[in-house]
Amino acid sequence: MAKIKSLDELRRIKTSASDLTAARSSNAVKVIVGMGTCGIAAGAREVMDAVLKEIEKRGLKDVSVQTTGCIGMCQEEPLLDVIYPNKGRITYGRVTPEDVPRIVSEHVVNGRIVEDLVIARVDD
Ligand code: FES
Repeated sequence: MAKIKSLDELRRIKTSASDLTAARSSNAVKVIVGMGTCGIAAGAREVMDAVLKEIEKRGLKDVSVQTTGCIGMCQEEPLLDVIYPNKGRITYGRVTPEDVPRIVSEHVVNGRIVEDLVIARVDD
């Protein structure tokens, strides 16, 4: 396991762990968009708008949309995580608004991971 080298890194790990813990205690699917500076610069606001539109369009009720800050992966922004109950956390990278309907219909609604956009995963 890598050493933690800074307080910021520790905070990121804590945030990430608490997101995961919160997700485990709920049956809602969580969609988390990285809204750190680099995420916003890369188009995270547009991705967030697309997520909210798609969820509204489909009338999805059991989906919780959240934001998170910098997780140290600027080069992969915009980042979008889906935490599906009891199925761990999947991180999608370089997400565009055009990718969002596919992520929502495949993963959020049907639980099928969109493999070609995955950059990281944390198993349950
Ligand atoms: S601002 Fe921290 S990784 Fe981009």
